[in-house]
Amino acid sequence: MPFSLAPACRRVLVGAGCFVFTTMSLPAMADLPPIDARVETLLSRMTTAEKIGQVNLVSRGDPIDGQLERVRKGEIGLMLNVVEPGEVRAYQAAARQSRLGIPLVMGLDAITVFRIAMPHPLALAATWNPGLVEAATRAVAQETAANGVNWTFAPMVDLSRDPRWGRVVEGAGEDPVLASAMAAARVRGYRAGGLATAVKHFVGYGAPEAGRDYNGAAIPASELHDRYLPPFRAALDAGSETVMAAFNTVNGVPVSADRRLLTDLLRGRLGFKGFVTSDYNAIGELINHGVAADLAEATRKALLAGIDVDMEGAAYERHLEAEIAGGRVPIATLDEAVRRVLRVKFGMGLFDRPQPQMPPQPAEAEVRALARDAARQSLVLLKNERETLPLTPATRRIAVIGAWAENDYDQSWWGPAGLTRPATETLLSALRSRLATGQSLEYARGFGDGCGYEQGDVAGAVETARRADVVVMIAAEDCDISGEGTSRAYLGLTGAQQGLLTALAAAGKPLVLVVATARPLALTATEPFTAATLIGWYGGTEGRTAIAEALVGEITPSGKLPMSFPRSVGQIPISYDGLPTSRPPGNDRYTSRYIDEATTPLYPFGHGLSYARFDYANLVIKGSEMSTQSGQIEIAVTVSNTSQRAADEVVQLYVRQKVASRSRPVRQLKAFEKVRLEAGARRTVTFKLNSSDLGYHDDEGRLVIEPGPFDVFAGGSSTASLSGGFGLTGPLVIAEPR
Ligand code: GLC
Repeated sequence: MPFSLAPACRRVLVGAGCFVFTTMSLPAMADLPPIDARVETLLSRMTTAEKIGQVNLVSRGDPIDGQLERVRKGEIGLMLNVVEPGEVRAYQAAARQSRLGIPLVMGLDAITVFRIAMPHPLALAATWNPGLVEAATRAVAQETAANGVNWTFAPMVDLSRDPRWGRVVEGAGEDPVLASAMAAARVRGYRAGGLATAVKHFVGYGAPEAGRDYNGAAIPASELHDRYLPPFRAALDAGSETVMAAFNTVNGVPVSADRRLLTDLLRGRLGFKGFVTSDYNAIGELINHGVAADLAEATRKALLAGIDVDMEGAAYERHLEAEIAGGRVPIATLDEAVRRVLRVKFGMGLFDRPQPQMPPQPAEAEVRALARDAARQSLVLLKNERETLPLTPATRRIAVIGAWAENDYDQSWWGPAGLTRPATETLLSALRSRLATGQSLEYARGFGDGCGYEQGDVAGAVETARRADVVVMIAAEDCDISGEGTSRAYLGLTGAQQGLLTALAAAGKPLVLVVATARPLALTATEPFTAATLIGWYGGTEGRTAIAEALVGEITPSGKLPMSFPRSVGQIPISYDGLPTSRPPGNDRYTSRYIDEATTPLYPFGHGLSYARFDYANLVIKGSEMSTQSGQIEIAVTVSNTSQRAADEVVQLYVRQKVASRSRPVRQLKAFEKVRLEAGARRTVTFKLNSSDLGYHDDEGRLVIEPGPFDVFAGGSSTASLSGGFGLTGPLVIAEPR
């Protein structure tokens, strides 16, 4: 139901005409003209100042009275960081009191938490379970929407092969197929939970030179289309209403001023119809980039490139009127930006509800159950020698070392400030409550602080270790060293942690290392001392409990790495899908290798052990060839759980195009499926690939499907050895740009 223009007559603006409703009954939606007509009618009534207001996204500021007045004047069309329901109502009421009563979009970084924290996005990707990620994301959205927020700045879908970059925590890792599945799942989840989405950061933000946040990215067109665009395409196909542009330059041009990316590619090729918001003051930062002499020029360049909304840049509000009056920005350009914003607002139903929608909070128990399941399925067991894990009742004396074990927080709980944090368990309490009869647990902090920066009582910790049968050390890469602005040049354990680990090893007991981290680390220095290593990520509200469940064997880890864990920083950027080179890595000097480091990662993409054992056999390719123009090829593989324990396994399918006009990656993930197998059970998993799944993009960004021989690999990681082959036949196909 559109808004009332003049309360006295209760005229309601609908489409071209103006209907007068004397009762509160709302016309059925079917009776309303389509959104575009409503948008045009409204746009035709707006002043230039009101249009500029609609493309102005402002962050909540204390005291809010001043902002409420600006909203009433129509100077603000979108807000961010308003999270308290009473304030949301106040802002929306102020919007309704403005001359045209246009409701506000209320945005927030509701990524994996509003109240109950899910594991962070990279950990969610480690579940390889899009259905679970969708459900967990929906729960976060429901908790958020219940407070009146209706737009989230998520999902972040920036692919990255560089764990020096602190924001890998927010993404889904290095692979376009896994990242695309996660992007779509998260958009579906947010939208089902009541939030419009802003897929970000378009594009190439995850490829900053040297892994330094905000640094420039150099991305050839073929790689842009093969690697970085697919997750955006998946998010848009899943219905993302908005896009957030990236801070960085791509090939020397800031995205926020690059019409080729924001308009020609995003709108022309990908068909995006919603609105594009800048990132925080990214318009103003065009001056830092050196492509604008002042904010007026930055304003002009951003709008003309395709930035519809100015987030906290105060650029559009200060300079657009003059840029238009001076003939440097056509009013039609502003109109189109406003049209896109209004179209999203109508599409969100904001005009059809006089009050901000605040659906009921989801049941906490349900949200917690999802958080626990997501945390459980995200855990990645990197190594487990001599079946050190799980800690069975036969392990009578357990030593737990590391102050993070007392921690009731991890950085995934990066929730809206001021909200009451939900109850959670420390790892120590969760372990203690799971001891079997006759088992004992002794704890030593080992550090002076929660994150292992300050030296603690190492001698005491070593003595504790000597009295135990198995030692569990908790290493925390927590405490605000992940996320935006946290690029690192070193990726070993921080502070006193490596020293403590080495000291504990001297106790001569099997050592289990648990790492709370949000990025791949170079754990090479820990390898000689550990019998088992478990990646606990930042598991959220239920994360520490899930780690305890895994340590004692209540659950079996099933996570798989969404990003390679390097041996050393010198190997970065590193990923499983590199090119073969003219001299593939080998023992000979004159091959593509390091003289002081292996070329393989410490732990590869797709890797993750289980307490069960899975064998793969019978890779069957139905039909030995497929046409470049049509058809499908079916690839089946049988996976068997040869252990006595039921468990989940992620079956992964990789291909390699052996000969083509361009050098092709040595492996590429093309499909995956997470399956549950009871002890002794087996399952045949069948994947279907279309010819378009096997194409690549050329330097013009066109999809090329080229005939030739393909190898196929299937198994539980990117190093799967079970292989087969097929031929792609027929003519070279160059698909029209999509
Ligand atoms: C930040 C981030 C972006 C976030 C925005 C609003 O600088 O780059 O991801 O959504 O500001 O908080």
